[in-house]
Amino acid sequence: METTTVRNKIISRIRHMVKSAIIKDRRFLDDEQLIRSEQLAVLEEIFNANVRDAEIQELSSHFAAILQGDHPCHLAIWGKTGTGKTLTLSFFLNLLAEMARAKNVPIRHEQLDLSTPRPCFRALNDLACLLGASKRYKKGISLEELMLRIEAKLAGYRGYLILFIDEVDNVRRDRDTFLTFLVRRLPQRINAKLVLVFASNRLNWPDHLDPRVKSFLKLNELIFKPYDAVDLQHILRIRVEKALRTDSVERGVIEKIAAMASQDHGDARRAVALLAKSAFVAEKAGSRITLDLVERAATELDRDRYLALLRSAPTQLQAAMAAVIEATLRSNGTPIGTGEAYDAYKRFCRGVGLRGMTGRAFGDLLAELDMYSLIRSRVLSRGRYGRTREITIDLPQELVDKIHGAIPPHSRARKHQLDS
Ligand SMILES: Nc1ncnc2c1ncn2[C@@H]1O[C@H](COP(=O)(O)OP(=O)(O)OP(=O)(O)O)[C@@H](O)[C@H]1O
Ligand SMILES: [Mg+2]
Repeated sequence: METTTVRNKIISRIRHMVKSAIIKDRRFLDDEQLIRSEQLAVLEEIFNANVRDAEIQELSSHFAAILQGDHPCHLAIWGKTGTGKTLTLSFFLNLLAEMARAKNVPIRHEQLDLSTPRPCFRALNDLACLLGASKRYKKGISLEELMLRIEAKLAGYRGYLILFIDEVDNVRRDRDTFLTFLVRRLPQRINAKLVLVFASNRLNWPDHLDPRVKSFLKLNELIFKPYDAVDLQHILRIRVEKALRTDSVERGVIEKIAAMASQDHGDARRAVALLAKSAFVAEKAGSRITLDLVERAATELDRDRYLALLRSAPTQLQAAMAAVIEATLRSNGTPIGTGEAYDAYKRFCRGVGLRGMTGRAFGDLLAELDMYSLIRSRVLSRGRYGRTREITIDLPQELVDKIHGAIPPHSRARKHQLDS
């Protein structure tokens, strides 16, 4: 009997989902699934609507020299995450190469994607693979050998070579070696006219470079501003068109998502994520995307983000968060001081057998939690009694409970970390 009930339940659920489906192509709600050529295909339409106009104008002036036979200098691009640096550059460089070829200007462009941190060895190896100069190695080959292979591969090429080094700050070990090679050594050893384009979302990445590299690095700088609401509307409208069935979006929804995203961060990736979440929530509820559902999706997205953040956080940070939650519970929601938080932290550590850090190190953990907006802490002056810190948790109670639940008090991982 039971199997038929389950069966019926599943069948009716599937029927319901199919009937109320509003998503026709999921890939356009998830960039991970979207292949580059498809992404670029919709871009022209977006850029034609004057999105990233200023940036594209600047890029055009910078690279105009190529069409006149001159050699432009290197370019550094800076902008917060999700401001379209990678996408705009890929689009622009494809277009530029097309135009150059039409004028018989030999040009080649490659994008080295460093979106996850890696040591110099991996970065160089990836570059060598991109250029067809070597295969992928785990070890057993020196940096020097990799460099020689890249140089040998490029020996015969005399045209323009544009290397787009995306997220350059992710070269973690020997970054100086990597950049010295690109900036000083490579141009001297090959005949190609090399133009480097560095992108990063850290404004200060060149600060830590070896001064000798820095003085060699003549850079033009270009800043990508966060998207404004109108830009985001263009970007979202195309997603809605491609991903959703007609009439599945209530009036004002795109405007609302764009407004929320532009106020918070101007990050197109997160605007698209909010649209996607709204579509999923709507589908589950068997309705179109309404303004209310967008609100709900935004709350869920925040919750998911906080939880994901905390789950992947170091054990000590989790312990500090648990301590603040527990101390706040004990104080019935009134703000707590650093001392109370630290006591709760020590208690928590004892309970789970975790090594407690010093008060000072605990202060750093609090600052980090504050940075992630998990807690809010401010310094109050108590006149001649000195100053004290006041800590509150400014998140919905339901979320706080979830966060607390996500920090298991006797997690094996925690013990494991202790033992090792
Ligand atoms: N002009 C645009 N048109 C359509 N979608 C866009 C546009 N700009 C950004 N996006 C969306 O935002 C996502 C992030 O864009 P992109 O990868 O170019 O940002 P980024 O500035 O390189 O960010 P990061 O610094 O995190 O690498 C894209 O995958 C795309 O979904
Ligand atoms: Mg990028």
